[in-house]
This record gives sequence, structure tokens and C-alpha cells, in this order.
Amino acid sequence: MLLHFENNSKPPHPPLQSTEPGTVGNTPAQAFGRAAGLWSAAIGQHQYPDGEIGLKLPPNLPAEVVIYCSLHQPNDKLIALMLAARTARALGAKHLTLVAPYLAYMRQDMAFTPGEVVSQQVIGHFLAEMFDALITVDPHLHRVTRLQDAVPVRQVQVLSAATLLADWVAAQLKQPLLLGPDEESWQWVSRAAAKHHFDFEVCTKLRRGDHHVQITLPELDFQGREVVLMDDMCSTGNTLAQAARLVKAAGASKVCVAVTHALMAGQAMALLKDAGVEAVWSSNSIVHESNVLSLAPLLTQGLRQIYKPA
Ligand code: R5P
Repeated sequence: MLLHFENNSKPPHPPLQSTEPGTVGNTPAQAFGRAAGLWSAAIGQHQYPDGEIGLKLPPNLPAEVVIYCSLHQPNDKLIALMLAARTARALGAKHLTLVAPYLAYMRQDMAFTPGEVVSQQVIGHFLAEMFDALITVDPHLHRVTRLQDAVPVRQVQVLSAATLLADWVAAQLKQPLLLGPDEESWQWVSRAAAKHHFDFEVCTKLRRGDHHVQITLPELDFQGREVVLMDDMCSTGNTLAQAARLVKAAGASKVCVAVTHALMAGQAMALLKDAGVEAVWSSNSIVHESNVLSLAPLLTQGLRQIYKPA
């Protein structure tokens, strides 16, 4: 059974009626439930005046339960997940899978100065205490390269939307050049490029603050090229906006953006537009106007691997 926090009608308290596999529902969680053939139910949610939250789960749960929760704007969701996962166990769940298409807190993977919290480890262990399995898409892994070293769950499925985004790009542009804005993006850009034999490269990036990055382009001829800037996520948009400005100045005829996770904090879309980006494409790991790709089929494959007979 699939439990999710997404509710189209958003009443003040709960609609707990289960949805049969195959019935209508248009949020990413519902689309995933349909694709995976799972009975699904929205977790009833209530926010108390002081900010605390109240949840309501179906009172009788099967042994195998999947909870869908994409972890952008993560802080309240982490508390909700803890409440839901602990209660799901009390209500009968024996095996709990978390489907988190976007996995938060993965970027701080070391203490850069003494005393800094390594959020990746803290949040990773917090999730691993609650769930038996985790399915996620393009988690930001850099110095820690194996997801289970960050989130030590028993079963893990690390999926990637890179080749699916590449299929989308191939349908839009003839001979694009894929460009990652920093060294970490190599993992996604190289995979995407390989699928369609696109040219690709990555830039180098120096982060000076939340809103300040310094990007250096690779030595390439950008003249007249249609460039797709590709990354795992766009947060404030500063990284991709600066890369866009540089490739335009270097002669690119067109710049587009393809990311798995459209975090799009603050004025990110406006920044990209001002920098000359003509189109922004993303997966629906986070619901956003730039979504062109549903992750439901990919997440379904991941779930089948979790439940594959040993
Ligand atoms: C980190 O390296 C990520 O891959 C992204 O490049 C980064 O989070 C983008 O951040 P922003 O959009 O705020 O520049």
C-alpha cells in the first residue's frame, strides 16, 4: 500500500479513502501509485495554530507499506515522516519503503570548518532508523559516493533521470552540447550524453556563498552551439544563470536548462530568464512549471527491484 501526503482537494482534515490501483489521480505520488499498481491513500494532515502537525493514517495497514514524500522544503516533512513511519509500524507495517524522489540535506557531506554539522550523515541516519528501503532519484552524492554510506538503509535504489532528460533534449534539439556547471555534474551529464552521443563537458565552480559562485568554462568552441546546461538541481539559479551568461558571451546560439530537481528557490526562474535561458526542463520530483518528465515509470522500476524475490 502507498501512503502519501499529496492531496488534490486539500481539505482542512483527512480524506482517508483508499484509491484502487488504476484510478484517477494527478499528483506525482498518485501517478506513481497508479504506475506501480498500488492501493494508495493520502495521509490526513492538520496544522495546529502553534505550528504542530496532526496526521491520520488508515487504521489497518498491510505488512508492506510505501510512503511517498519528496523532500524539498524538508524540515516539516521530516517531522511528518517520523510521525507517519513510527505510526505505520504500530498499525501493522513490517517493511517500510520511503520513496523520496528528491532527497534533502545531501550536499553538506563534510565539516568544512570545525563544528559544522554534517547534515548528510545526521539526516541520513535519521531516515535509516525509520525505513527499511529507500528509493530516490539523482541524490547529490559528491565526496560520499555510495548512498548507503550516507543513508544506511538495508535496501536502496538510486535511480537517475539523466538519460530520460537526454531523451527529452534529443526530441527538442538536433546537435546540442551538454554542459555541466561544476565537476560534480559530470556523473549526470556524461550519462545523458552517452545515450544520444551528444558532445559534453563540465565547468569548474568555486562557491563563495549561497548566492555567489564563480564559474570557469571549459576550453571549447561554443560559437553557434545550442547548449543545454544540465545539473542535478537548480536551487537559487545562480550557478546555472552564471554558466548561461558565460556560454552566451562565448557565442552559443541558444541556452536551455535541464535538471532533475527544480528546487527553484526565490527568483531562480527570473534569474535564468535574465541570463538568456530560453527553456527550463525538469522532472516532476518537485512539482514546478518546468516539469516535462514524469518519474512514475522510473520509480516503479525501482520499487520492483526492492520487492524482487531474493
Ligand atoms: C551543487 O553543486 C548542485 O549540483 C547545484 O549545482 C547547486 O545546488 C545549485 O545551486 P544554486 O542554484 O543555488 O546555484
